[in-house]
Amino acid sequence: MSLMGEPMGIIGAGRLGQAFARTARRADRPVVIANSRGPESLTSVVDALGAGITAGTTRDAALCSIVALAVPWASIHGALAELSWSDQIVVDATNAVRIPGLEPVPLGGLTSSEIVAQLVRGARLVKAANTFSADVLGADPREAGGRRVMFVSGDDAEAKRAVAELFDAAGYFPIDIGDLVAGGAMQSAGGPLAGHDLVRIPAPWE
Ligand SMILES: NC(=O)c1ccc[n+]([C@@H]2O[C@H](COP(=O)([O-])OP(=O)(O)OC[C@H]3O[C@@H](n4cnc5c(N)ncnc54)[C@H](OP(=O)(O)O)[C@@H]3O)[C@@H](O)[C@H]2O)c1
Repeated sequence: MSLMGEPMGIIGAGRLGQAFARTARRADRPVVIANSRGPESLTSVVDALGAGITAGTTRDAALCSIVALAVPWASIHGALAELSWSDQIVVDATNAVRIPGLEPVPLGGLTSSEIVAQLVRGARLVKAANTFSADVLGADPREAGGRRVMFVSGDDAEAKRAVAELFDAAGYFPIDIGDLVAGGAMQSAGGPLAGHDLVRIPAPWE
């Protein structure tokens, strides 16, 4: 399944949501971006992000076939409460941390994406784009002769492929690290992949 060319919804229009919008534009995707205060509040954000970006409601964003979640952990229930899902791919870029100290929130042994999966029943969840800062996500992923690594995890192979395809088109080197339990744990706040900005350099024979 290829979703190339289809609009991407982004729920959360702060630092990470805007960086995600830049990434989607690098992959030549139109973007519908939403926050809690409505599209009128996003005029200056949309103007600054440039062509291909429109503001919408969270419902508008959630109607896209691929939707990124970029809201603070404390807002995740509120942001998702009124939305319904029917096979959309949801890219969970959240971290279960307290703001501003970034201490991990205890989750009773679950990964954050397992909790998000329960909140987006009917969607196909992929964890990605949460392991480095918004500044890094928004920048050109072609670095030092290589491509920045983007880890993806999830339980739906087709959804992971579609998300990997998006990041690949944006210039990233996507790596599938498994399902939401194993891969999601590695990507989680405090996990072994959290905070690393890795660049994949091609081997000499490539
Ligand atoms: N910033 C980073 O470097 C970074 C890196 C990796 C992962 N993350 C993760 O990305 C997520 C967002 O972080 P951020 O730094 O981008 O936060 P942020 O700059 O504070 O932006 C948060 C955005 O979420 C929106 N929002 C809050 N509640 C909402 C709701 N109920 N419905 C719709 N939108 C809502 C806010 O809209 P309003 O302003 O209208 O309330 C705002 O646009 C967090 O889970 C964070 O852990 C961030």
